[in-house]
Amino acid sequence: MKVRFKLNGKWVEVDAKPNEILLDTLRLKLGARSVKRGCETAECGACTVLLDGKPVYSCTILTPMVEGREVITVDYLAETGEIQPLMEAFAEHGAVQCGFCTPGFILTAYAFLKQNPRPSEWEVRKAVEGNLCRCTGYQKIIEAILDAAERMRKSNGNK
Ligand code: FES
Ligand code: FES
Repeated sequence: MKVRFKLNGKWVEVDAKPNEILLDTLRLKLGARSVKRGCETAECGACTVLLDGKPVYSCTILTPMVEGREVITVDYLAETGEIQPLMEAFAEHGAVQCGFCTPGFILTAYAFLKQNPRPSEWEVRKAVEGNLCRCTGYQKIIEAILDAAERMRKSNGNK
């Protein structure tokens, strides 16, 4: 079946099977390799994308479900500069090692900080509890997200 949706600001149309998962469509048909294939069982968050602005596991979404909707991957937000504070904070806090989990963490954190620009550490921990990292440990990631929140507030002139 044909499925048409907006991917990173542009409308795309793909041929998809009714039981095809969005993760496969994005990686195998649309070249979105920043969307990582981890557990495929809704446990690791590596495959996170934004669907109509909300983080979802693309391994749990059937492609026909995104007809007419908007999907955003991390590369688009890197191009537009919207995740620059998160990228800088992750790098400076040593929150990236192999990088496999990083797109998922950044998308989840980005959506969360839009809703909650002044979070507590506990709120950040809750926000990213659905994303797993096997390398860095979580403290650096949490610190990076708190730092990114502060950078975003400063750049918005709101300390
Ligand atoms: S690959 Fe989707 S949650 Fe792990
Ligand atoms: S940096 Fe390797 S899995 Fe998180």
